[in-house]
This record gives sequence, C-alpha cells and structure tokens, in this order.
Amino acid sequence: MKTAELRQAFLDYFKQQGHTIVPSSSLVPADDPTLLFTNAGMNQFKDVFLGREERDYNRATTSQKCVRAGGKHNDLENVGYTARHHTFFEMLGNFSFGDYFKREAINYAWTFLTGNDWLALPQEKLWVTVYAEDDEAYDIWNKEIGVPSDRIVRIGDNKGARYASDNFWQMGDTGPCGPCTEIFYDHGPDVAGGPPGSPEEDGDRYIEIWNVVFMQYNRTADGEMMKLPKPSVDTGMGLERITAVLQGVHSNYEIDLFQDLLAAASSVLGGAATTEASLRVVADHIRSCAFLIADGVMPSNEGRGFVLRRIIRRAARHGNKLGATGPFFYKLTGALVELMGEAYPQLVSSRTQIEKVLLQEEEQFAKTLDKGLRLLEQDIAELKGTEIPGETIFTLYDTYGFPVDLTNDIARERGLTLDYEGYEKAMEAQRERARAASKFGIDYNAEGLRIEGKTEFTGYEHVDGHEKIRAVIVNGEEKTAEAGDEAVVVLERTPFYAESGGQVGDTGLLTWSGGRFQVTDTRKEGDNHLHLGTLIEGELFPGLEVDARIDHRRRERTKRNHSATHLLHAALRKVLGEHVTQKGSLVDPDKLRFDFSHFEAVTPEQLREIERQVNEQILENTPVQTEITDMEQAQKKGAMALFGEKYGDVVRVLSMGTDNYSVELCGGTHVGRTGDIGLFRITSESGISSGVRRIEAVTGLGALEWIEGTERTLRETARLVKATRESVVEKVQQTLDRNRQLEKDIDALKAKLASSAGSDLAASAVEVGGLKVVASELEGADRKSLMETADQLKNKLGEGVVVLASVEDGKVTLVAGVTKSATGKIKAGDLMKHLAAQVDGKGGGRPDMAQGGGSDPSKLAEALAGVPAWVEKNIA
Ligand code: ALA
Repeated sequence: MKTAELRQAFLDYFKQQGHTIVPSSSLVPADDPTLLFTNAGMNQFKDVFLGREERDYNRATTSQKCVRAGGKHNDLENVGYTARHHTFFEMLGNFSFGDYFKREAINYAWTFLTGNDWLALPQEKLWVTVYAEDDEAYDIWNKEIGVPSDRIVRIGDNKGARYASDNFWQMGDTGPCGPCTEIFYDHGPDVAGGPPGSPEEDGDRYIEIWNVVFMQYNRTADGEMMKLPKPSVDTGMGLERITAVLQGVHSNYEIDLFQDLLAAASSVLGGAATTEASLRVVADHIRSCAFLIADGVMPSNEGRGFVLRRIIRRAARHGNKLGATGPFFYKLTGALVELMGEAYPQLVSSRTQIEKVLLQEEEQFAKTLDKGLRLLEQDIAELKGTEIPGETIFTLYDTYGFPVDLTNDIARERGLTLDYEGYEKAMEAQRERARAASKFGIDYNAEGLRIEGKTEFTGYEHVDGHEKIRAVIVNGEEKTAEAGDEAVVVLERTPFYAESGGQVGDTGLLTWSGGRFQVTDTRKEGDNHLHLGTLIEGELFPGLEVDARIDHRRRERTKRNHSATHLLHAALRKVLGEHVTQKGSLVDPDKLRFDFSHFEAVTPEQLREIERQVNEQILENTPVQTEITDMEQAQKKGAMALFGEKYGDVVRVLSMGTDNYSVELCGGTHVGRTGDIGLFRITSESGISSGVRRIEAVTGLGALEWIEGTERTLRETARLVKATRESVVEKVQQTLDRNRQLEKDIDALKAKLASSAGSDLAASAVEVGGLKVVASELEGADRKSLMETADQLKNKLGEGVVVLASVEDGKVTLVAGVTKSATGKIKAGDLMKHLAAQVDGKGGGRPDMAQGGGSDPSKLAEALAGVPAWVEKNIA
C-alpha cells in the first residue's frame, strides 16, 4: 500500500464510523502562545476538548501536518541520523468530543489495524501499553479484544512526577491531557531492542505506531488537573511509521514517498547514495520547509521564521557536504509537489513562492557560511580540549546567523562537543539587553494586578458616551489619581478603540465636573480597554461617571487609512498574484504601512495599476458592509484570514468595493462608503527583509497634503532654475548638461595653468651638485594638478629634483619627483619621507615619484626651503 493510499484508507475508515473528515489545520497554530508549530492532530481541537468551542460534529478524523523542530518537541538534531525522526510528519487521528470513549476508541483502532478489509496486520505482532491505573483499558484489551496478558504492559508514572508517564499524554505544560494506551509493532527478532517498559525498550524492535489518548483533564498553569466537561478521545498515528510497517521496511526513509524524494534529492546532488545521512536530512527538510512556507512562514531571525531559517540552512550545509556548489534545495520543490500536492493543494498553489524563498535563502546563506566557517575553523585550531566555547557558538549565531544545531553538526563531525551552558549565558545576557531596551513607560500590568470584567466597545457607532469608571491605576497600583498623575483608566463601556490589528488606539478626553483626563493612547489588556494618559485636573476614582469623547478627526483619518489598507491588500493580490499575504500592518491618522510577501520590487507600472484600482473602488463609492457571522460562513465568502491569528466563534467580516472586491476578517473601524476615503496615493515601496516588501500610502486629507508637498517641491525647483512647471524638466536637464561641460572646461584650464606654472618654476631652479632643484608651493592646486605639474617640470629640467606642495583645509599635500636620469643619485621616496615628517605626516613612493601629506602647514615653508640642502647632503 502506498503512503497516499494509506492516508486515504484511514480517513475512509473513520468516515464510515461516522467521523467528519476535517482538513489539516495550518502549521502555524491559531493564536496559541503555548505552541510554536502545530505538533499534534489535536491542536486544532484544543478548545473543543476544553468545552470552550462547539462544532457541529462530535466525531472527527484528520491527517494533520505536524512540525517538531524548535519548541518543546524538538527533533531537529536527530533528523537524518535515526530511522524515525522527522522535522515534518503527518499524524493520522480520530477524535471524539464527548461522544465515544475507551471501548469504541480501542475497538476502532484494533479493527483498522487488523481487520481483513483494512490493514490486516498479524495480531501476534502487536503489543499494547496502558496507564498502570487504567484497569478499564486493560480489561478491554485483554477480555474483549483478546490480547494475551503477556503482550499488555502497564506503565505508571515513570518520569519522576505524578502523571509524568509514557502512558499519560499532555499537549504541553498546560492544556488537555489524560491517560493513554499505545499500540506497538514488533519488527521481529532480527532487530535489537526489547518490549515497552523493559530496559531495552529504546531499541528499534518494538515501535510505537498508535497513541490513543483518553482526554479527561485540563492541566492549568499551577499544575491543577481540572476535569474536562466530557471525557473525550484523541488519537495519533504517524503516517510514515505505519506505512513502513505495511511496506515491510524498517526505516521511514525506505517507504515509497521517501524513496521518491531521496531519488529526487540524489539527482540534484550528483547521484549521492540514498542511504547517506546527509541526503536523508535534505529529503526530510524539504518537507518541513515547503509546508511552512506554504503556510506563510518566512525565514527571519526570530520565532517561527528563525526555525525555518535553521532548517533551510541545515539542509544547505548537508547538500554542500555532498558536493553541491550552488543552490540546489529549491529544486526539490517540484518533486515534493508531485508527491504530496494532491493531498495538500496549498503546496501546488504556493510552488513558485516556495522555490523563490528557498533559492533566495540559499544564496544568502552561501555568503555567511564562508565567513562563519572560517571563524569556526580558526577557533577549532586554537582549541584546547574538545569543547567549543559558548562565546564562539554565540558569536557564530549572533553575527553570522549560524544556528546552534549547525555548529553542533560540524562539531559532531570532528568529535567535538559544545559548551551549551556558556552559550545559554551569552544568549540570556543578550535577551536581558533587549528587555531593558523595550521597557514600557507606564507599568499598568504590574505583577499581581488583575483587572476584572470586560470593557464593552461602543466605538463602531459612537464617538462619545457618558460612562462609568471601573478602575484607575497609578504606578501599577489601583488608587485615586490626582492632578498631574499619569494613569491608566478602565471604563465599563468605551467609544475608544484599543490598538489592535495594526490600527492605533484612539486618543481623546474624559471630562466631568471639575476634572479632565487627557487620553494619549488606548490599549487592550485581556478583555479590557486601557485608557493611558494624564490627569489634568480633578480627581479620578472608580464609580465616577465621565463624558468620554474620542478625537474624532484623528479617528476619521485613521478610518480612511484602515479601509484603504483593505483595498490595497486586495489590489496587491489582483495585480501581483495570490501569493501576496499580509506580513504586517500599521494604520494611524497620517499614513498606512503595509508589509506583504512578494519577491521582487513592485515595478512602477504595477504600482500605478494598484493605485488606479484602489482609486477606482473609491470612486465607485459603494457602502462598506460589516457582517457578524461564524468562521465557516466567512470562509465561504472568501474572507482573507491571517495566519496565526485566532478568530473566535463569532467573526466580523468586512466587505468593500464592487463585487466584493475585498473581503477580510477585521475588528477595526472603517469608513461608511469607499468614497469617504477621498483619494489614495502610494508614497513609497521598498524591501524590508527577504521576500517581504513594504508599501506606505496616504489617503484623504493626508493624500492632499502629500500632493501639496510634491507640488511645493516642484514649484521651488522651477523657481530656482527659472523655469515654468512645464519646462522644469528640460531646464534641469540643460543645467546638468552645462555643469558637465563646465567641469570639463575647468579640467582643461587646470592643465594649462599647471603647464605655465611649470615653465615659471623651471626658471627658479637652483643647481645642487649638478642637479636642478625646484621646491615650491602651488596655491590652490589639488593632488592631481601637483602631479601633472611635477611631470612637466621634470621634462623641462632635463636632470633634477622637483618638490611641489599645496595647502587646503589645514592639510598639506606633497609631491616629489626625480628625473629618471637622476634616480641613481637621489630617491624621491626618501626625500618624501624626510619632508612629510617635518609637516607632521607620512609619505613615500618610487624612486622617481612619491607622494605624501601632513597636518602642520606652518612648517611647510621651512621644509621646502630645506630641500636643496637635503639634496646636497644625500646625493650619491
Ligand atoms: N495527541 C497524541 C499524540 O500526539 C495522540 O501522541
């Protein structure tokens, strides 16, 4: 059975058992700060297990993309060197949300594995483990399924704490968890290793293929185990592992999918053997990299992007080890799309993007690799002992972008180890510096301070309101604010928009009889809007009722920029392509700034077209529609959602423009009709990091101001060159041409002057020991004309010595020449050394021509006067 067939068989089987086939979620977990990448099938159902979210099914099955690199489950360093570690893998799973429990879960798993219509694995090859206390699971396996007791192993808390066990699964330090039962496959006595729970369990003979978790608890941050609303089931089976079993091979790299990928890798890497660890690294890494890029991750120096960068770089280096001399990794994209594109169509549509990102990253890495390797080689050569110091690891990482695992790879090849502790220390010091640099002025979130309740936002419809104060915080403490205090104010309800989704927070005023609070920013903290600002007069305390009014004009300007951002986003996708996704956004009253994924600079023609489309939508003046709905409806409408953003059950969909030109999920404030934007003007386009471009633009009055500014510059330029608006370009061109001609004329004149000065000076030569000697200052001459004049003088003198000097900005320039015929007697270089030293400088050169300079012009006259005497003394 091929990998693709097995994936399908699994989904089909569970569909027959009443499960809904749910697509794999993104590798970028939706707003889950506890998770770097999606690492298990249950991630996307976390809130369903916790009872925070309802779905219209209570049985689901998935084939989930997972990445385990970086973060809690980090397999990166082992990948390539073992039979079963991967950065990317697919997890097959079935889930019950308060529907069936242990009995059905075990029966389903057993039937799929051993049933004649399904995988038909020989029963005697299967072992199972259960959590030591779970008699119920034990009995189901033993009495109902008929697994003999010598193939059922009970495993207790074998990891040093309560519930810390191979048979107790938890998503992370917090979140849903519960006891589990695992199914193992015995690869036979030819392979070393013992059954689970035995001292030899780490061998490769008994391999876990399926983990069936009985979700019962939610582990909270303080370690408490809260019962879940309903007992549930979460299972996970690694597709690559079970395929290896079915295909009768031992290593995952021997299954059809990997054999094909390895063959492709081998062909771009000069025919390397498919058993090479480095080739396996490359074949493994192309999967995680391609899928991550398809899910919107871009290589960068932090967070997810940095993990991606590390994986690409690790692949590139292993390719180099196999002899690659240029970029090769990106070339594997095609083979991967061929193999997995059918199951994951996103790979197909992102293919070009993936290739570009990889190619660019490989090219960039080639540049830093050289430098870093040289540094590392040097350090290794000077190494006493076998441990690479933490400082070196840190410098390689920080300055040369060398991921630690890469340094470790190189160290491993030389039999060296890394001083991780020293590295961590250097890292921590760096983090400390960063933290110190980013301290926020008002510490409204002081330890232990929690603001209860939830602020109701009225600002979609209102710009003011009569509102009650719930909390006042001064210097991190809840207390009454007095005039002059900087404070944070929380209201029961507020028209103030709190910064989010790129839109800045509102500013404005809170007023009451005898008091005034100036709001300079509004931010969100949990469910509350915090009004930051200064109390100008009066006292401010909870319970007080105030009139809250936002700076209406500022909000209006911000709204125009926000709505224009949506139109811009849509126009970018229409003009540049669907690969364009938002990478960052800032909307304030003055401008909008939009970062997006795209590879080349946007051409002036494209920019014009984007601007034209946005303005066309503005002129259509269609109403902006807001709709509160659920995610499914939103997706049906084609709403653009951002990767990594979490959207609740209820989402707000913003549609604007003709034929739903732009449909986006957004909580921001927007204009009523597109025409309210007035005018849209792009002011700049630039690259900000690899594959990410930035557009800045202005709208409404801001656009007008920008145009006025341009207009002023034009008027001023015209005035300066005495032209009209129409003739200004021609006039500037003429002026430039004339300038160029003048420069030429000046050069010619200088040459002429030098030559006539030369003639005059020749007449002033004195005779010293049969040589004619000239030493003089040439006012206003630059180095070039000094040289030219010296050359001409040499011609005129026949046999002699010339020294010329000039002074500019307190600096002395010196040139010394000796005619060819006289170089046997006097050396220009020696003379120059002697001269330069006198004016506090340096110089030197050939026997016939030397140059120098100095910083003490006051000594120049004396130095020049001394030349004949020096010649006399030093003549050979
Ligand atoms: N969530 C379980 C695991 O990842 C099934 O093993």
